[in-house]
Amino acid sequence: MPSARSEEPALTVVLPSAADTEQLAMRLAGLLHPGDTVLLEGPIGAGKTHFARALIRARLGRAEDVPSPTFTLVQTYGPAEAEIWHADLYRLGHPDEVWELGLDEAFTTAICLVEWPDRLGRHVPPDALRLRLADHGDGRVALLSGGRAGLLRTLKAALADA
Ligand SMILES: Nc1ncnc2c1ncn2[C@@H]1O[C@H](COP(=O)(O)OP(=O)(O)O)[C@@H](O)[C@H]1O
Ligand SMILES: [Mg+2]
Repeated sequence: MPSARSEEPALTVVLPSAADTEQLAMRLAGLLHPGDTVLLEGPIGAGKTHFARALIRARLGRAEDVPSPTFTLVQTYGPAEAEIWHADLYRLGHPDEVWELGLDEAFTTAICLVEWPDRLGRHVPPDALRLRLADHGDGRVALLSGGRAGLLRTLKAALADA
């Protein structure tokens, strides 16, 4: 059966160095709106926090201290009307704890960057952008899919212009 949802084809971006991960994060930073969620997938050391840090700094326009939310689970940045939530759910006990964290509301009002999104269970926003990081030689490769209509197409165009 053909799917009723028309999805953008996935996008693969080779990232030979950590600086390339930052470049991709900076490109995406300018395209996100409140209500957008980015699911950062990949094993420990893949570069999820590195990506989130570069994206947050690009949006804030300054070299903000962006600690890994390994123990706090969530860190927030920016003014209330344009908040960025950075979550690391590795230690989330149960998917329903996203309510306690306020993440379910943040998914609709803020830009959310979520490490270990598999912990969300049924709370994954349906139009979230998926970014999976994997080893690729000494560097990484990013596989992007999903996201709100047009987002991935716009990112592709932005990367082609670079
Ligand atoms: N494209 C890349 N090539 C090589 N190293 C990278 C790349 N992107 C990120 N890194 C490095 O990966 C390391 C681990 O990143 P980190 O963001 O802490 O991982 P995670 O949050 O996924 O556990 C960092 O030292 C970072 O510099
Ligand atoms: Mg991390």
